[in-house]
Amino acid sequence: MNHDTGTVLAGEHPAAPCGPHGERLLAGWYDTGRPADLTEHLARYGPPPLFQARSRGTAMPLVRAVEEAGLTGRGGGGFPTGRKLRSVAGAKGPAVLVANGMESEPASHKDEVLLSFAPHLVLDGAALAAVAVGAEAVHLCLPRTRAAQVDQLTAAVAERRRAGLDPVRVQVHALPHHFVSSEETSLVNWLNGGDARPRSTPPRPFEKGVGKRPTLIGNVETLAHLALIARYGPAWFRASGNSGAPGTTLVTVSGAVHRPGVYEIPAGSPVTAALSRAGGPRGRLGAVLAGGFFGGWLPVPLSTTAPDRGAGVLVALPEGTCGLAETAAALGYLAAQSARQCGPCRFGLPSVAEDFTALARGSVDAQLLNRLHHRLGLLPRRGACSHPDGAARLAASALRVFADDVHRHVHGPCGAAFAPLVLPVPAARPPEEGEWR
Ligand SMILES: Cc1cc2nc3c(=O)[nH]c(=O)nc-3n(C[C@H](O)[C@H](O)[C@H](O)COP(=O)(O)O)c2cc1C
Ligand code: SF4
Repeated sequence: MNHDTGTVLAGEHPAAPCGPHGERLLAGWYDTGRPADLTEHLARYGPPPLFQARSRGTAMPLVRAVEEAGLTGRGGGGFPTGRKLRSVAGAKGPAVLVANGMESEPASHKDEVLLSFAPHLVLDGAALAAVAVGAEAVHLCLPRTRAAQVDQLTAAVAERRRAGLDPVRVQVHALPHHFVSSEETSLVNWLNGGDARPRSTPPRPFEKGVGKRPTLIGNVETLAHLALIARYGPAWFRASGNSGAPGTTLVTVSGAVHRPGVYEIPAGSPVTAALSRAGGPRGRLGAVLAGGFFGGWLPVPLSTTAPDRGAGVLVALPEGTCGLAETAAALGYLAAQSARQCGPCRFGLPSVAEDFTALARGSVDAQLLNRLHHRLGLLPRRGACSHPDGAARLAASALRVFADDVHRHVHGPCGAAFAPLVLPVPAARPPEEGEWR
């Protein structure tokens, strides 16, 4: 390792993983159809370079390696991971690390798949990040609804404990699985003994989080990339993707494609490339939802540049499907799933969802469109968390991309307005007061 530049942490390790399509996280594991155990994992990657992650007096080599790699969060926000690591590492007192494996986005399965094939890569990343920022505890948060995965990860942590691998205590937790329960302050609240509901900030978790300690929260995929950067270095990481979006990224592709599933693609790939990996479109498409329920609709023909908010979730909508009805259903779900603590979620979001449903059904009063545009303008940046912002983004993109349909629906619903949905909108009722713990 080069302590002066911190650019390469890799020592004597087997070759970097590479699948036929340039896969790294999932290379080779898919074929096995089961979780890699610790022996297989170590045979492939070697042990995590834990002692090199934070060397006293040499200014955080792993933090600098992650900064040089340009890794950004894979949990939706896309924030630079190196910057987060540096803030927590520089905060006073022992820190805490939280690995976010909650994956509440209904159209996403990438974290579930990653954890089910390469659990130790995620756990390596969590341990390495913990050592780098001076954390004494790691909490892996998983949804209570994935009980088998909770058991599997608990067993993986026990396997590592028996092998004496992790220098920090790692705990696996099963949390309520509501949409906003996976937001970072919800995790902190729950781990502090409260409800899995967002809380207002400041203080941000990196200042005062779990047990009032500086807390680093990272998506499980982000941590798995970090585990590979620690071994193979930032230049290796940057060899995939492009300068603005380095590395690879996992994407869940569903809807009208030949082979729906989770794929690993170069970051910054155009949507067309991601759809091709899933066997290409099945028939003609009407639009594509990029980024899931917090993302936005893309019109066809699809652009050959990458979507603004990345392509972590893609749902291909077949031609002839009603994009307004799909959006109305997703908005109804998001409104029901809010924590109902702030104005935009208590009043604004349900009203927007109601108006969208009326629009989709073609029962449009004279003021509906003006009202909808006005309310959409009031949602962003007014909640304690960005839940209303995400919903507003989805609704605004639908009004833009399906503008022709909007004009038609003013006179009555289209033939597809009551057809079965393509989006996987869960039939979840609003959580009761006692169901947040
Ligand atoms: C309503 C809401 C839901 C979220 N759900 C998730 C989630 O399921 N998984 C996740 O990793 N991040 C989720 N996030 C983002 C987290 O708050 C946090 O930014 C992320 O876990 C940080 O990890 P990263 O920097 O590696 O992306 C959500 C944010 C919001 C506002
Ligand atoms: S904005 Fe909505 S989801 Fe976020 S904290 Fe407020 S009520 Fe809860």
